[in-house]
Amino acid sequence: EFHLHPKEVHFSFNGPLGHYDRQQLQRGFQVFKEVCSACHSLKFVAFRDLEQLGYSEAEVKAIAKQWTIKAPDVDPKTGEPSTRDPVPADHFPKPFANNVAAAAANNNAIPPDLSLMAKARHDGPAYIHSLLTGFQSQEGFKNAKGKELLKEFPDSKTPEGLHFNPYFANLNLAMAPPLSAEGQVSYSDGTKATVDQMATDVSAFLMWTAEPKLESRKSTGMAVLFFLLIATGLAYLSYRNIWADKK
Ligand code: HEM
Repeated sequence: EFHLHPKEVHFSFNGPLGHYDRQQLQRGFQVFKEVCSACHSLKFVAFRDLEQLGYSEAEVKAIAKQWTIKAPDVDPKTGEPSTRDPVPADHFPKPFANNVAAAAANNNAIPPDLSLMAKARHDGPAYIHSLLTGFQSQEGFKNAKGKELLKEFPDSKTPEGLHFNPYFANLNLAMAPPLSAEGQVSYSDGTKATVDQMATDVSAFLMWTAEPKLESRKSTGMAVLFFLLIATGLAYLSYRNIWADKK
């Protein structure tokens, strides 16, 4: 086993009282929009869902216009698939015309849809953060037990065109490091866009796409626990009451 367990990452939505930080989700969306969406879709997320992050209807319309929907029919004038502007009810589309084009552009790997990625991988948001910040040289890499990969398996050199990343189960990944420089996006809220910050923000955003109802699940859980506590207390008191005169 050479791949690493995700790093410890603090997220506002961890823990039983966890909640999303809307400001962070907006920053994460910005990273997705400006970086990841060149290769990845969010097929289960509609543009209008962004209103939950605090964007107005008009802002959502303007955001949607930055994508293009490829209609299934062909434009008779050009012979190309016809296109139209998205409406807020459309979902974030695939950036490539089809899987063949996607694979051709990415060293034979198809960039997966990211809607549910934070749920599909163990420790999802921390995993995504670790993956984005975990690209490194394979030379000298040791696993948690101190074993050196290239000494144990000299034939395991990362193939041309792939990128070594010990957080990825296969160790070599077709995605080049997408976040490589501080200031790659400019945040309008003044947050400093370090690679770590951008990785944390986009991981939080992808947690929201995978589980938009996380907050109500957690608050319902707390309400249920509170109810059970009271009910247990009442049950105990009535037990005492019922048996009070029996010695
Ligand atoms: C795979 C996230 C940007 C191309 C992945 C995976 C994640 C991810 C979580 C899946 C890893 C797994 O299967 O466990 C992101 C994020 C991005 C981003 C958050 C933006 C910050 C990009 C860009 C490209 C790209 C810009 C293309 C230039 C790919 C490809 C794969 C992949 C080809 C499949 C890799 C393989 O299976 O070997 N990405 N990505 N990604 N991504 Fe990205």
